[in-house]
Amino acid sequence: MQSAVRQLTANNGQPAIELTFDSASALVYLQGAHVASWKSDGITEMLWLSETANFAPGKSIRGGIPICWPWFGGYWGEEPDRAQHGFARVADFELVDFEATDIFTRARLRMVSDAPYPEWSNRLALEVEIVLSDGLGIELITTNTSDETVEVGAALHTYFQVSDVTRVQIPELMGLSYKDKVRDFDTFVQEGEFSVSEETDRIFLDPPAKVHLIDPQSGQNLKIESLGNTDLVVWNPWAENAKKMPDFDDQGYLNMICIEPANALDNRKVLRPEQRFTLGKTILPV
Ligand code: BG6
Repeated sequence: MQSAVRQLTANNGQPAIELTFDSASALVYLQGAHVASWKSDGITEMLWLSETANFAPGKSIRGGIPICWPWFGGYWGEEPDRAQHGFARVADFELVDFEATDIFTRARLRMVSDAPYPEWSNRLALEVEIVLSDGLGIELITTNTSDETVEVGAALHTYFQVSDVTRVQIPELMGLSYKDKVRDFDTFVQEGEFSVSEETDRIFLDPPAKVHLIDPQSGQNLKIESLGNTDLVVWNPWAENAKKMPDFDDQGYLNMICIEPANALDNRKVLRPEQRFTLGKTILPV
């Protein structure tokens, strides 16, 4: 069994680490602790990455698993001009610890940049643990390092590679309530099978811990098991919005779907001083 963690420079000279376990591999950029590639068999890419993605300091990578933290979506506080999805996705991380064993390969990263906003400075610590085995596991471990309560929102904004987004199914969404970002955040119930045929931006409430992503065309199905989330966000920008984003290649929306365990909107986690909170998920080919 081959199992290792090695440091390397990846796209555009950006520092990264590669985890390998048997024939599986994962590439993680240190900026944003951003998993940009996961090949469960060493050949098939499971994560979608835009052909026009940026690989540069201060720019989030369009694809893979960006981390939304310490808030999801637009900022809820009073201060203006705070970045959408928080600041962790462009923060610097360092490798603090790793383990390469017969049953998994594991790397733990720690955010080393201070928050770019004064009101968030020295409030929280963030560690990201990535585990590669038959599947891919990722955990965000937040610790309140201040002496006040702090509210934390987060998401594991995972872009999955699919053959044809109009044909994918996520059976467990049927019957769930969701807030629809495309329709003023009004609440609806998912009647019938969920499918994508237009811009889709839904925050599913109280989702089950396990959902499946079924890709009938490739037969490549995944089980996604989440932990610590109150919500599951499902997003596809569709054609017009994809065109508006320079880092989103024009046709890419047909081959991706984001499924994101999250603590979104008002479902922020309130942490007491020293309290820890883990948001995580494991993705397993089935
Ligand atoms: C999703 C949101 O999680 O992320 C969408 O629900 C948003 O509303 C999308 O457009 C992409 O966000 P960003 O900041 O990476 O372009």
